[in-house]
Amino acid sequence: MTKAVTKYFCRNCGHAASKWLGKCPSCEAWNSFEEEVVQKSTSATRLWGRSSKERSEAKNISEIIQGNEQRFSLIDKELDRVLGGGLVSGSITLIGGEPGIGKSTLLLQLALRLNKKVLYVSGEESESQLKMRAERIGIINNACYVMCETSLSNLLNYLQHNPPEILIVDSIQTLSSETIDSPPGSISQIKECTAELLRFAKQSNVPVFLIGHINKDGNIAGPKVLEHMVDTVLQFEGDRHYNYRILRTLKNRFGSASEIGIYEMRGSGLREIENPSEILIGEREDHLSGITISCAVEGIRPILLETQALVSSAVYGTPQRTSNGFDLRRLSMLLAVLEKRCGFQLGVKDVFINIAGGMKLEDPGLDLGIVAAILSSYQNLPVSRDIAFAGEIGLSGEVRAVSRIEQRISEAEKLGFKEMMVSKYNKGIDQKNTKIQLVRIGKVEEAFEWLFG
Ligand code: TYD
Ligand code: MG
Repeated sequence: MTKAVTKYFCRNCGHAASKWLGKCPSCEAWNSFEEEVVQKSTSATRLWGRSSKERSEAKNISEIIQGNEQRFSLIDKELDRVLGGGLVSGSITLIGGEPGIGKSTLLLQLALRLNKKVLYVSGEESESQLKMRAERIGIINNACYVMCETSLSNLLNYLQHNPPEILIVDSIQTLSSETIDSPPGSISQIKECTAELLRFAKQSNVPVFLIGHINKDGNIAGPKVLEHMVDTVLQFEGDRHYNYRILRTLKNRFGSASEIGIYEMRGSGLREIENPSEILIGEREDHLSGITISCAVEGIRPILLETQALVSSAVYGTPQRTSNGFDLRRLSMLLAVLEKRCGFQLGVKDVFINIAGGMKLEDPGLDLGIVAAILSSYQNLPVSRDIAFAGEIGLSGEVRAVSRIEQRISEAEKLGFKEMMVSKYNKGIDQKNTKIQLVRIGKVEEAFEWLFG
């Protein structure tokens, strides 16, 4: 016998309570509780100490034979990289991102390209809309099946008889199970549907992709437990005004969680960008002040990009600091360091920072390039386009070592830079191993001296 019970769940962490709470005791989020009806069996079940024949067996770890790593390539190099070298059989991958960023396009394109039977289940679009998109992408594939379905049990029924080689669900928020009374997209529905699909993936060894909506804070809508349940969480992001899209690993049970893949959204689908540096550095003959080239590392991949700064006299009493793609607090810190160490009166200036191409980076190795761009704009003197920068700046103005310096240097060398300004504290780099002239500095004042002195 079952009885309907009302419970309250925290949208953020999935914490369950019997009454509504203003603040979640588990994750301390405010106003995150939602009411949901759950079915509960009333027959008392005593688990511990029952005499049941059903029981699990434990195995010694040395007896377990590791199966062959069943990974396969998805043809898409960026996606392969982000997944840690291809898709693992039986894995479940969640892709989140803002509406319109290209999640459906990415996965439909994958379904169309692969030479495997792929089932694309959509609860958001009609068959003809999917066909329209497929035509835009322009690949015809007989192994790609689409299904417009929002009922979990119908889908699972179909899967039982016609298992595909890859399953794509667009989106997990539109799927619903009849066993639960809450509407599609609610916490218990998402949890239930994901759990069922997880069971399907593990038992049938079919890899599953789930598309997830994100809420206004940028997190994947639904409970945090969703991210715990799946094997891999990817985030598709980018600025809608730019065509570049970044696929970022947030969690990966089968590989590194700091990888990125870069795409360009075109009229005919997404194009992989293997060498992002080439597009992020503008071709320019004339030398302009306030522009430098920095070498950042995202994940394990070095990227050279333009860091731009504009320093102008503040019109209003309080100077403005605006930054696109670079942390604003870090910018304030760099300005304070420049004021204190080099004596620039930046406190009375407006400062604007822009990272080219709509990229958002967190690498502290950008500091040196940003500082050089600020100084260049302040002095109105251009910096040579043959020099790249990589260095972190500390509070006392010291230029600190950065990670993966060899890769940064070789990327700059590959792109034809002649010089590179790095920290002298970066050990293990040898001028002999590179054609680039290394400029090693220890303090931010030295950078200024070298560039404009
Ligand atoms: P979509 O995949 O529907 O986004 P999501 O599923 O994340 O909501 O992508 C929609 C956007 O991509 C839409 O604004 C149109 C654009 N687009 C292109 O520019 N080129 C294309 O070939 C396709 C299919 C879409
Ligand atoms: Mg979509």
